Amino acid sequence: GYRAEDEYDYLFKLVLIGDSGVGKSNLLSRFTRNEFNLESKSTIGVEFATRSISVDGKVLKAQIWDTAGQERSLGIDVVGFSNRVKDPMAVFSANMVICLGPFVLMWCFRVGRGEHVDMVFGDSFRYRAITSAYYRGAVGALLVYDVTRRATFENVSRWLKELRDHTDPNIVVMLIGNKSDLRHLVAVPTEDGKAYAESESLYFMETSALEAKNVNTAFEEVLAHIY
Ligand code: GTP
Ligand code: MG
Repeated sequence: GYRAEDEYDYLFKLVLIGDSGVGKSNLLSRFTRNEFNLESKSTIGVEFATRSISVDGKVLKAQIWDTAGQERSLGIDVVGFSNRVKDPMAVFSANMVICLGPFVLMWCFRVGRGEHVDMVFGDSFRYRAITSAYYRGAVGALLVYDVTRRATFENVSRWLKELRDHTDPNIVVMLIGNKSDLRHLVAVPTEDGKAYAESESLYFMETSALEAKNVNTAFEEVLAHIY
């Protein structure tokens, strides 16, 4: 029968997490608007988008939250991050952190961007406040790595820990190896992703936001498992 655009039976909050540049925002735009952007910029702040799907005659509305991976990955992914930064000053600041530690990096970036920086403690407080708001009420998570960058896979355990620290133990988590279209550049074999997911009781899927492969399936499976 007829359903108004905004009628739904259940509303579920999902969060996207994973290192910067793994393709979180493009997975979101592919699923909610069927769009892909080859030159997308790192996400600023928190964005969200929604899409409804039907399962067993019920309409499930997903509200999906997306934020940048970089500020939250504690400086480990600096090298992978810096090649997306066109501003040489920002690259210089990024390299400073390797010598001087994550707090100095955070300070350099903020000052370099012309922001007023009062206290490092203020930043860590704000980081914690944003983190808890981001995860609050989430019933599903897509934890994304980039199959062409091993470091993004190695950081998965840290994202999982942050997720476990901030969410209900029953949250449905799917591990996603994105960019499966870049077959010749694969640095994380499917078996490694699958084995890690099994060891941590996560669902697992390889996707390509570019080719629109498995993207709908991944979101739909998470929603179906929640439901
Ligand atoms: P942050 O917002 O910084 O955390 O990054 P993100 O995880 O949102 O990554 P984003 O979606 O911005 O994608 C980063 C880059 O990877 C962009 O240049 C995208 O075009 C590219 N990309 C994303 N998904 C795919 C994919 O499936 N295949 C290929 N080949 N490139 C992709
Ligand atoms: Mg993004």
